[in-house]
Amino acid sequence: MPETPVTGPTVAPAAAVILAAGEGTRMKSDRAKVLHEVAGRPMLAHVLDAVHGAGITAVHVVVGHQSGQVRERFQGTSAVWVEQAERRGTGHALLMAAPHVGDAERTLAVLCGDAPLLRAETLRALLETHRSAAAACTVLTCEVPNPAGYGRVLRDAAGAVTSIVEHADATEAERAVREINSGLYCFQAQAVFSALRELRPENKKSEYYLPDVVRVFLARGLPVASLRATDATEVLGVNTRRELSDATRVLVRREIARLEEEGVTFVAPENTYVEPGVRVAADTVIHPFTVIRHGVVIGKACDVGPFSHLRPGTRLDDHAEVGNFVEVKNSRLGRHSKAKHLSYLGDASIGADVNIGAGTITANYDGKRKHPTVIEDGASTGSGTVLVAPVRMGRGAKTGAGAVVTRGHDVPAGVLVAGVPARPLPATSRTEGKES
Ligand code: UD1
Ligand code: CA
Repeated sequence: MPETPVTGPTVAPAAAVILAAGEGTRMKSDRAKVLHEVAGRPMLAHVLDAVHGAGITAVHVVVGHQSGQVRERFQGTSAVWVEQAERRGTGHALLMAAPHVGDAERTLAVLCGDAPLLRAETLRALLETHRSAAAACTVLTCEVPNPAGYGRVLRDAAGAVTSIVEHADATEAERAVREINSGLYCFQAQAVFSALRELRPENKKSEYYLPDVVRVFLARGLPVASLRATDATEVLGVNTRRELSDATRVLVRREIARLEEEGVTFVAPENTYVEPGVRVAADTVIHPFTVIRHGVVIGKACDVGPFSHLRPGTRLDDHAEVGNFVEVKNSRLGRHSKAKHLSYLGDASIGADVNIGAGTITANYDGKRKHPTVIEDGASTGSGTVLVAPVRMGRGAKTGAGAVVTRGHDVPAGVLVAGVPARPLPATSRTEGKES
């Protein structure tokens, strides 16, 4: 007889609930708070990244204020949307998710939609602590230099967490505590939903405070664990415009530091804006006041800036150079190609060894639609050239200064065109235009 495999009780993988229904009053905005962008993407997108990065696929998002806007922005995301019609506090918000979570044995990670700097590794570490402590609740805490506004974590003489007290409700002595509640927790699902039903909104804000479940757990003899985050930037909650820009600065610094580790030089890192999620190969030098948006790919030994703007869809091949006041969008610049001064390159596919003369513009938009420009290997454009797309310049083709190459009038390989509208020059008058 074949042996029956011994299987323990199957524990469902963790699910996540992101609390994102709040009004964000202090942002003074008509927009939902979680839609405000940090380093070019909505706060909620960063939180979702952390959750997915930690391997959690069952994600619930509690929405309320401007929930239509939020759902629309994130349509196509696999999250389950939970409505909290009336905002009665974080405890009330989590309770709204109870009917949707299902498996009562589950571990629930609960996150705030307004804390976009959390790393996936930290969420994973919290889940690990929660499992190994077999706790009903595990809270991520952090010692921060300025704890004002956050809930404070109170501990007994033995160092065990006894409660979390909100800033507004804290005594002077409690406010002196610098260990704060990050707003990220792991719970045993059934235990937390049961504890939430015992909360009372007896506090300064008359709200159901989620952190109050700590006291309920301890009163019921259920174990409460904690993990201290070592990097205080990870727990920043965004409640104001200032905190929004602080959060962007943190993410930009992280991305630049990561790229420096990989061999990229930033001449002035404090004056360079790089969104998370770019790829840059070693020995590329990024000069000051450059903006690099997410998804941009830059090869090795490229030279970028000063004052370049590389938008999504940009790809620079090895040894390419992009300089002062050059904006590139959804375009590829081939090996050893250069666009050094005052250009817009949009929806363009540019080959190798191309010289884009100062002030060259790809006129990609006809008022209704965007059109592509193709510039083949070894071609060059004279200063102030306008290429009205869709248009193509063949291998080694050239334009004279101020040429306007009109739509569909492709420049054949090796031919020089000039004028407005640009036309081939008679072979005798062709000159070798040189840009540097
Ligand atoms: C909360 C914690 C605090 C912690 C801090 C970390 C409570 C009571 N306090 O404070 O201990 O230090 O986060 O950043 O939980 N939300 C809802 N529905 C509501 C109310 C809030 O979905 O009815 C959402 C908000 O959209 C936000 C999150 O919950 O994303 C936190 O709410 P917020 O009002 O910002 O709480 P804090 O005062 O920052
Ligand atoms: Ca907050």
